[in-house]
Amino acid sequence: MEVSDEIEKKFNSIIKPKKLENEKFWDILLNSKDLIVGMLDQNSYHEFNTFDDFIKIEEEIYTELPNEGKNIEEIMKTIKLKIVPGFNYENNNFFGYIPRSPTNVSKLGDMLVPIFDQYLGNSIGSPSATAIEGLVVKWIGQILGYEGGFFGSFTIGGSDANLQAIYTGLVAKLPWDVKKLGMINDKRPIVYCSDQTHLCIKKAMMMLGLGKNSLRIIETNDNLEIDIEILLSKIEDDFKNPELIPIMLIGNVGTTNSGSIDDIIGLNEISEKFNLWFHIDASYGGFAILSNHDVSKKIKKIGLADSIVVDTHKWLFTPMEGGLTLVKNGDLLKNAFSYKAEYLEDTYFNFDTIVMKNFSDYGMALSRKWRGIMIWMNIQFYGLDGISKLITRNIYLADILKDMIGKNSDLYLHPGSNLGIVCFKHVNHEINAEFISKIQQNRTLKIGHTKINNLQYCRISILGEDLDIEIIKNVYQEIIKNFKEI
Ligand SMILES: Cc1ncc(COP(=O)(O)O)c(C=O)c1O
Repeated sequence: MEVSDEIEKKFNSIIKPKKLENEKFWDILLNSKDLIVGMLDQNSYHEFNTFDDFIKIEEEIYTELPNEGKNIEEIMKTIKLKIVPGFNYENNNFFGYIPRSPTNVSKLGDMLVPIFDQYLGNSIGSPSATAIEGLVVKWIGQILGYEGGFFGSFTIGGSDANLQAIYTGLVAKLPWDVKKLGMINDKRPIVYCSDQTHLCIKKAMMMLGLGKNSLRIIETNDNLEIDIEILLSKIEDDFKNPELIPIMLIGNVGTTNSGSIDDIIGLNEISEKFNLWFHIDASYGGFAILSNHDVSKKIKKIGLADSIVVDTHKWLFTPMEGGLTLVKNGDLLKNAFSYKAEYLEDTYFNFDTIVMKNFSDYGMALSRKWRGIMIWMNIQFYGLDGISKLITRNIYLADILKDMIGKNSDLYLHPGSNLGIVCFKHVNHEINAEFISKIQQNRTLKIGHTKINNLQYCRISILGEDLDIEIIKNVYQEIIKNFKEI
């Protein structure tokens, strides 16, 4: 059939813009080492940019929206000269928040993701990538003690993985059709967690339309673990109110503040007694189950939970975006998320495999990147034994630091410090604030800061493939130096 002249003329008048040809693409990729040198060398010296630098960084980067394209060399030069210097990357002197320490192997895996750009929304999009992703979900479930019909899906991080898990539990447990009627029907669902629970649980409650009014925040004991007695009495009280329906209990395996681990067996008994969904946020501490340190015994029973969240970008040493929602009964996850659409009919298949699933049926996202490969490569390279050793070494390094701090009569070590986290303060309240602020000003050593029971603490989070005793001794020396100068 003849194409209309007019349309053809219009089309031909639009000149195809230049593209980055394959040869050039590979040339830049393979020769970009000098761009990233320093970032790959975890031991390299790096001064952390602080708030004082922000205005300057913004001035370097802020430009008008370009109409005309630039050449690639110029763009790469801007990255090198203006953007990279404004990075704050996490190296062996970074002990703030929960540091990430992606291994080179997992970085290689992650670098393959945009090169192949496989579609992981359904298995027809990429059978082998789907199989790897599903296999990794199965491996991680097994690590955590799940068996049989569990399944899960990767997310951006622990925050949205927790959102997915909480939603799944509410759909499964509430005695009305949540998918049709919504979250609040004749009763308000009530969810229980400790005062050390991560902020993402509150965000999830808000996003699910329940709000903080549906969250009971339970006090913790001296070790910052949920107080089981208080929890019990709150649940019993709520059951007496006909307008409420207690529905979910959230436990922590490795709180962000101090690494504390809730009593899994105690929480499981309560959830069974009151027929509650038992969810565990193990974003930080879950993989410590692999360690040979005694603390792993406290995590051994994590598989009792109905759902678990872990982050591979923490103690599975991958780059970011390794959040994972795992559900003991995978069908409940599928029931919560699967939705049919006419434009996706060719993606439905009626045979059952162990790992080849349509991942969009097991989570929120439809277009999904391939997260499994970075994890698969790490597990292939290190084996469980290697990963276990990396985690165990990190926890012993925290023990070493705790030992040094505990022996120093000027410092108070919080007893809730657990796994790789060490929280401490100066015993003298009068100078503690100054002590902490002095430590914060250090540009080459990043030590975190938090509040426990409204008191200010320094917080050191130890997570890294290359960390060693000398580095930790140096951290201690720096701490001492600071308070000697006050
Ligand atoms: C215990 C815990 N839960 C949830 C999160 C949120 O995870 P993400 O930052 O991957 O969204 C974190 C992050 O550090 C965490 O430590």
